[in-house]
Amino acid sequence: MVLSENKIKKLIDVAKAMVADSKGLLAMDESYPTCNKRFAKLGIPETEELRRDYREMIVTTAGLNESISGAILFDETIRQHLKDGSSFIEILAGNKIIPGIKVDAGTVAMAGHPGEKITEGLDGLRDRLSEYAQMGLQFAKWRAVITIGEGIPTQACLEANAHALARYAVLCQEEGIVPIVEPEVLMDGSHTMERCFEVTEQVLHTVFSQLYTQGVVLEGMILKPNMVVPGLLCEKQESINEVADATVKCLLRTVPAAVPGIAFLSGGQSSELASARLNAMNVRFKTKLPWGLSYSFGRAIQQPALDIWHGKEANVPEAQKALYHRAWCNRAARLGEYNAEMEKK
Ligand code: 13P
Repeated sequence: MVLSENKIKKLIDVAKAMVADSKGLLAMDESYPTCNKRFAKLGIPETEELRRDYREMIVTTAGLNESISGAILFDETIRQHLKDGSSFIEILAGNKIIPGIKVDAGTVAMAGHPGEKITEGLDGLRDRLSEYAQMGLQFAKWRAVITIGEGIPTQACLEANAHALARYAVLCQEEGIVPIVEPEVLMDGSHTMERCFEVTEQVLHTVFSQLYTQGVVLEGMILKPNMVVPGLLCEKQESINEVADATVKCLLRTVPAAVPGIAFLSGGQSSELASARLNAMNVRFKTKLPWGLSYSFGRAIQQPALDIWHGKEANVPEAQKALYHRAWCNRAARLGEYNAEMEKK
């Protein structure tokens, strides 16, 4: 790809800042259906105003920037305002949290491939990215979803999703926006950790091959993968250290050293387990790895705070305490300094 030296330097600087040594990302970019689903579970009305209130609670949490380098927002949120009239982008940037944006349009059933999904959103993406860059958003996210099951994933699904990720990434870099490349192998199902390893390895090889073909500057992107874990319904659930070892082994086989950082998704793990597994990776391997191992958690940072908030203004201070605490635990995990004692209030 033909990018100016200046543009490449800016991409590299932002990517490095996103995975700065003691920090990670907060995913607060739930689409309408996902956010509504989480609200519905708790009986919170699924309204635009409450989605705004909830996200105001998050971004006004004091001290969040001690652990959070960047926040991924949803298109609805960047057009909303806080009660004091400032925009979400302004408040984050003012707190030295880099604002980013989810730009994929979600997944749909993949034609001809039952049980598999393809992510949409490439049409018109160049124009949307240009608007986002003008609004001050410095990085973007695109999530591909890979399901493990009987006879799946197919090579067709892996290649189509990897191709879309690479085309998205190159469009982002052209606009001076750092792409987060997120191929998520889902935890749903009864498959073993070995099967998750095999599929994740195949997925990441396919993704990096496409990133190379499309000319993505690896130094100016972040990878957001799943950890290598057994399916949620698998009888055998490996230990924290076994998951850490398998995940790092898989990443060492597939992720080029030029990539500055890997920020895991949490994917439905409990908050504590996500922190403990990330911590184990950093304790055991941090000094030996070419890239930083960090977090880009959604549920694993937000869930306790959402449970407490429950749609009520009066619960905001307690919810913010819980959010700050989870972010702080993950900061510790990023440094390899997390322990179960931290969970005792
Ligand atoms: P979870 O950490 O809840 O999996 O969300 C991360 C994310 O951004 C999914 O796209």
